[in-house]
Amino acid sequence: MKAAVVSVLILLVIFVAWPVSADRKDLPGAGGYGGDEDDDNDTKSWFPLDNQLSLSYYDRICPDFEKIVATKVREWTKKDSSLGPALLRLLFHDCGVTGCDASVLLDHEGSERRSPASKTLRGFELIDDIKSEIEKACPGLVSCADILTAASRDATFQLGGPYWPNAYGRRDSTDSYARDVEKVPSGRRDITALLETFQSYGLNVLDLVVLSGAHTIGKAYCGTIQSRLYNFNATYGTDPSIDSKYADFLRRKCRVASETVYLDAATPVKFDNQYYINLQKNMGVLTTDQELVKDPRTAPLVKAFAEQPPHMFRQQFAVSMVKLANVGVITGEDRIGVIRKVCSKSNSRPY
Ligand code: HEM
Ligand SMILES: *[C@@H]1O[C@H](CO)[C@@H](O)[C@H](O)[C@H]1NC(C)=O
Ligand SMILES: *[C@@H]1O[C@H](CO)[C@@H](O)[C@H](O)[C@H]1NC(C)=O
Repeated sequence: MKAAVVSVLILLVIFVAWPVSADRKDLPGAGGYGGDEDDDNDTKSWFPLDNQLSLSYYDRICPDFEKIVATKVREWTKKDSSLGPALLRLLFHDCGVTGCDASVLLDHEGSERRSPASKTLRGFELIDDIKSEIEKACPGLVSCADILTAASRDATFQLGGPYWPNAYGRRDSTDSYARDVEKVPSGRRDITALLETFQSYGLNVLDLVVLSGAHTIGKAYCGTIQSRLYNFNATYGTDPSIDSKYADFLRRKCRVASETVYLDAATPVKFDNQYYINLQKNMGVLTTDQELVKDPRTAPLVKAFAEQPPHMFRQQFAVSMVKLANVGVITGEDRIGVIRKVCSKSNSRPY
């Protein structure tokens, strides 16, 4: 039957998508390696697998790395459960802008973090706290980009999401520019623009649909969707593609821009495939969510994830997260990266 065909297709895609290369030269837009001098014997030649990410990267040089991260994430999210979704989003906003290089963490005049589009990003203090703990255990060895990758994975897992193995060895950027934030999608793009953005990361349409499923947890500010609710266009005050009862609820809830709504109204804190079921009922919160069921390129995948058992979504989410966490990474051989001492501060700038 049709459902069976779709599930076989998804399995096939999962199978094909597994071998993820972490090699920077395979990534689009990374421009390959620069100067390939072979007399470079100055920098950290004892780093394992200097030019690519590795699952065992910290095994010898910082064996407690993952334990420290997991413990800190558990401590912080116990006190504030909204930090889990915030960390997952933070990784997307790091990797989606100049690659997974911790550029989103730098806090200085004109940095990505200071751009208006980053205003609702959170979790920075947690990352700084993890970093200072790790500096005590293995000073100067663990990048902020790796810490963010690990923390985001652990937060997702602790929320009941899937687990995935992380390869490590990323370096941190030396700088960060607010203008680059345009590269990460806002909530009001059409599917063509989203697909183009994901393609520029080396991700495909399946990754787009699956990673959008992150919106099965977390919240949006009402300010983000107010135009969708109150002044959509000349004909409609409210976007007519929203289920009318749900639209009533959102309008009542969202009079104030600083109010928040769950991105998954039905099971807001469960990491399940409910997001896709909501979309089929016209209960997507963001325009970009709802567009996924309207576009013929993405609609069949939404349907498949809505109809298949939740583990299909969860498994593919893990696969696509590994791909996302490899976008545009800087590794030892690239030379342009550093290990930051403090995640929010550049090593070389005076602030
Ligand atoms: C496909 C394009 C995407 C768009 C247009 C988008 C847009 C948004 C927007 C507008 C919000 C609400 C922000 C606010 O109101 O403050 C949000 C929240 C969120 N996004 Fe996305 N997003 C996308 C993809 C992703 C991906 C790939 C992930 C992670 C894998 C992700 C994870 C999250 C999470 C977890 C939240 C909730 C944050 C919280 O509760 O603090 N999003 N997203
Ligand atoms: C690099 O340095 C190490 C240790 O100083 C030395 O043993 C090795 O021969 C050097 N390699 C090259 C290619 O110069
Ligand atoms: C308003 O949006 C609806 C639904 O997308 C569309 O059919 C209609 O043409 C739009 N009206 C104007 C004036 O843009």
